[in-house]
Amino acid sequence: MTEQNKLENGIKENGESVVEEDIVNPWEVQSSSSKGVDYDKLIKRFGSSKVDQTLIDRIEQITSKSGRKVHHFIKRGLFFSHREMHRILDLYEQGKPFYLYTGRGPSSQAMHLGHLIPFIMTRYLQEAFDVPVVVQLTDDEKFLWKDLTLEECYELSKENAKDIIACGFDPDKTFIFSDLDYIGSCKDFYWNMKRVEKCVTFNQARGIFGFGDSDCIGKISFPAIQAAPSFSTSFPHIFNGRKDIPCLIPCAIDQDPYFRMTRDVAPRLKFQKPALLHSVFFPALQGAQTKMSSSDPTSSIFLTDTPNQVKNKINRYAFSGGRDTIEEHRQHGGDCEVDVSYQYLKFFLEDNERLEQIREDYSSGKMLTGELKKELISILQPLVATHQEERKKVTPEILQQFMSIRKLPCSDKYPPPDPTASSGKKKKKKKNKVECAKDNGDAVVSKTAAAEAPTT
Ligand code: TYM
Repeated sequence: MTEQNKLENGIKENGESVVEEDIVNPWEVQSSSSKGVDYDKLIKRFGSSKVDQTLIDRIEQITSKSGRKVHHFIKRGLFFSHREMHRILDLYEQGKPFYLYTGRGPSSQAMHLGHLIPFIMTRYLQEAFDVPVVVQLTDDEKFLWKDLTLEECYELSKENAKDIIACGFDPDKTFIFSDLDYIGSCKDFYWNMKRVEKCVTFNQARGIFGFGDSDCIGKISFPAIQAAPSFSTSFPHIFNGRKDIPCLIPCAIDQDPYFRMTRDVAPRLKFQKPALLHSVFFPALQGAQTKMSSSDPTSSIFLTDTPNQVKNKINRYAFSGGRDTIEEHRQHGGDCEVDVSYQYLKFFLEDNERLEQIREDYSSGKMLTGELKKELISILQPLVATHQEERKKVTPEILQQFMSIRKLPCSDKYPPPDPTASSGKKKKKKKNKVECAKDNGDAVVSKTAAAEAPTT
């Protein structure tokens, strides 16, 4: 990270943190408030749109036609921000196709509960809208960023793929790929990477991602790899070369810088901009100042944890919004806004009435922290155990099925573009090539993407 970038991100020259503004980027999430990141401010800073009641009602109206409810992650504001969700819903209502794209950087064997959030949402959207999903495993990213060998990253991508499959994706509509595997096998994907790479200068990449002089060149070009799956031509075996199938990306908002960049370059490449649906962060056990993260094991409940580990971690580490003594708690009640157990229940306790009852009881002091934790433990122990059971069912054959480059049954819905469609039209003289940055290397990504200001 450059000095300038450090200052902008609230780190003094001596390394001391001066978090005045929340730090949210793919590598760090930090807030000075015990309530966590100020997401309304973040929407303004990033220039995205709030998931408001109108959007929720619209999703409800559409999904109810197929007998589904709006997912509680959306209803409860846990997916709080978006870019162009209305465009995707317009297309859907017109019977036009779209696809979902999400991903995972396989840096460790054990994924944590926070990682599940975008996958649960993606699976729900796959089912509700009956659309294909592509899942990128950025093993190449983790090789560049972590102290791991290529072999280790590649193995981890397959281990993580099993956890993703265990979320219940439809094998007929899902393609999971490791970058280390797929990029060498798919020319179209590689070509899209190159197209994006040529559109973004080092200056712009530094502005968006904070790369510094000592970052290896692999990191600097990596964002083009995360951008490429946003374009349907990167998957010729699914979309038959069609350029016009738009993409919707569910992810936590830490990944947004990649897609601000992608949305900025897309029109220059005559591609559609990807739409996005952003989630809040599943907080660390110690409190909402930061997100649950694999790099701090005490902050996380892993999908590999035993029932006892789940119980002990919650009892030992989950930050409590309760009062110092039982008497005080009974008198003044607890603070649900900072209480990690309550925050976790918002994600995983689906029963609205029960959740509201808990909120009332805890806030009034009727329910004690120990009782609230017990409630959470009773939800998370079976959730993690069920995940482990589902993961065990993922045989090498099933893994191979999801990860092989294959035609999906739904591919027939995307007939290849008609090569004669534009023939006969008088060709305009090209002013400059679409696929490239200006020859002098000047900005192609607009300053807005770099500066997080309202974009597109
Ligand atoms: P990674 O492996 O850091 O995270 C995978 C997904 O989980 C989300 N996430 C969280 N969501 C809620 N609460 C948390 N505490 C939490 N921690 C992580 C991330 O936002 C992400 O959606 N470079 C990416 C991999 C990637 C990707 C993508 C992600 C490639 N293409 C497209 C999303 C969309 C990464 O390392 O994710």
